[in-house]
Amino acid sequence: MNHGPFLYRLAREADIPALQALIPLSVRGLQAAFYTQEQMEGALGTVFGVDSQLIRDRTYLVAETQEGQLVGCGGWSKRKTAYGSDRAKSGDDPLRDPATEPAMIRAFFVHPDFARRGIGRSIMAWCETEAREAGFTATEIVATLAGEPLYATFHFVVVESFSITLANGAHLPVVRMRKRP
Ligand SMILES: CC(C)(COP(=O)(O)OP(=O)(O)OC[C@H]1O[C@@H](n2cnc3c(N)ncnc32)[C@H](O)[C@@H]1OP(=O)(O)O)[C@@H](O)C(=O)NCCC(=O)NCCS
Repeated sequence: MNHGPFLYRLAREADIPALQALIPLSVRGLQAAFYTQEQMEGALGTVFGVDSQLIRDRTYLVAETQEGQLVGCGGWSKRKTAYGSDRAKSGDDPLRDPATEPAMIRAFFVHPDFARRGIGRSIMAWCETEAREAGFTATEIVATLAGEPLYATFHFVVVESFSITLANGAHLPVVRMRKRP
């Protein structure tokens, strides 16, 4: 996939170190208007991190510059886990039933130097097409307050506001957003 100046391809296991470097840069650079440092640091590694199941499922994309710098990522999931990294999981992660359950949009992170250049939008468009082709008719996201405007442009609506309790005792306010075509 080639949209504008960036190249988009499926993420590979070999990308994990670059993803683990990108995610804290994205969080600290783009969420500071919405969350405190305690909230961001408490969520990094568990709520914000790599879910390698998405890579194995081939449902996770990365965006690269022409020079090969990894500057964005995001994907969707056909599995039960709604958010969070490998470290937040225990046991296997069963599949959802597309007939009765929504697909989940998962783990979008863009490098601050490359924000507002359409990377999030391009990955979202791919996710929606792929989830539809896999038979899902509804889609949900547990979104950060930083992510909410992007998903709102795709006509997702907030159906619930809640806070995730973090390991450091802080609470991270998030919104569950839903779209049914
Ligand atoms: C959310 C995020 C992935 C968006 O990525 P992005 O590549 O900058 O988004 P895009 O450039 O594709 O934006 C598409 C549209 O979404 C909306 N949008 C995106 N970011 C926005 C912001 N900070 N404020 C207002 N609207 C925003 C705009 O309508 C934008 O279109 P425009 O630039 O033409 O006005 C990025 O801000 C990010 O990585 N944030 C930190 C990590 C995070 O919280 N991820 C979300 C997890 S649920």
